[in-house]
Parts: sequence; C-alpha cells; structure tokens
Amino acid sequence: MMKAQTAVEIHEVLANRRSPRSLDATAVLANENLVAILEAARWAPSASNGQPWRFFIGHRGDEVFNQILDSLVSFNQGWAHRSSALILVAGVHTREDGTPNRGFLYDCGLAVAQMVVETHHRGLVAHQMTGFDASKATENLSIDASLTPIAVIAIGKQAPAELLQGAMLERENAPRERKALEEIVIKGLPN
Ligand SMILES: Cc1cc2nc3c(=O)[nH]c(=O)nc-3n(C[C@H](O)[C@H](O)[C@H](O)COP(=O)(O)O)c2cc1C
Repeated sequence: MMKAQTAVEIHEVLANRRSPRSLDATAVLANENLVAILEAARWAPSASNGQPWRFFIGHRGDEVFNQILDSLVSFNQGWAHRSSALILVAGVHTREDGTPNRGFLYDCGLAVAQMVVETHHRGLVAHQMTGFDASKATENLSIDASLTPIAVIAIGKQAPAELLQGAMLERENAPRERKALEEIVIKGLPN
C-alpha cells in the first residue's frame, strides 16, 4: 500500500485509500458491509438536512448490476464488471416546495465521500465513476424524472494489480499524486 505523502499525519484511511481497478471477481459483498456503507452515506450532513441522495444497488450478476454496468463507458466496463456491487447515486434536484435545490450535487458528493471512507475502513475498496451514460442508466433502471443520476461507485475486494494489463496496470501501480498545499490554499496556509 502506497501511503499518501502528507505534511503531517492524517487519518490512515484517507492516507491509504486509493481507487483501484483490479478487483476480485469472486468476492461477494456481505450484507453487513453493504448496510454499513449505506449508513455512512445516510448520516452525511446536508443543507437544511435535505438528504437528496438516492441509491440504486446492483449485486454482481443480478439485473440491476447489469443495467448499471451497461450504462458505463467501455473503459469502465472493462474493469468494473469484477466489482462486488455497483451503486448508482442519483440526487433529488428540487426542494419539497418545488424550487430548485442548487446544492444537491454537493450534498450527494458528501454522502459518497462518507460511503467511500466506510468502505475502505472495512478493508474493501470503492472506485467512483462519472464515466457513464446518464440517459442509458435512466432508461435501464427506470429512474424517476425527479432524480438526476450523478455517479456510479464500484465496491469490491482489491485483487493483485497483475490482473490488469497495459496502461491500466501502470496506473494501478503508480503513486497517487496531488497538487501541493501551496497551490490549493489561496490564502492562510501556515508556514
Ligand atoms: C467524481 C469522480 C469521477 C470519477 N470517474 C472515474 C471514471 O469514470 N473512471 C475511472 O476509472 N476512475 C474515475 N474516477 C477515479 C479518479 O480518477 C481518481 O479518484 C483520481 O485519479 C485520484 O486517484 P485516487 O482516488 O486513487 O486517489 C473518478 C473519481 C471521482 C471522484
């Protein structure tokens, strides 16, 4: 595991997490892990406690899994078919009074972030994707017009990188990179 280079120690899940593509095609997601991942998302904060996140969960081999998989771009299909579950996150884009909820994407991203941390904390891996066709997903899953499909998250058990080939194998082994703090903090970074 290649730990993130940080100026000071951060939570080990955050330091060690990465988005792998090499997944064990035989691993089954235990119900307890799935429920924990969903609870982590459910307890995310949101503007006015609006909780605009909604989830469609496919378990490898079932109809929903295949419907979500079919909506992924081919690059993502090439590795995500080995995940234990594919979770499509969709957001309610209007408030209860019918006015637009401009913050729904932010809220849904927070819920997914918590989901990802809980997943890795449990020794599993999560890999988020926006490389999917939202219209195809809407059609395949009969997603209601009140919901906007946002992302798909592959949940699985990491497998040896050598399961992959070529550029995908290289990316799997490459160190994680980030902009320097000096580049992302416009004002107020401690010396
Ligand atoms: C919103 C979002 C969309 C992403 N879409 C894809 C995708 O379609 N396919 C893919 O292979 N990885 C996708 N990724 C993974 C990113 O490439 C990855 O998180 C980034 O390179 C940082 O690597 P790390 O997560 O291992 O630290 C996505 C990540 C996020 C957060």
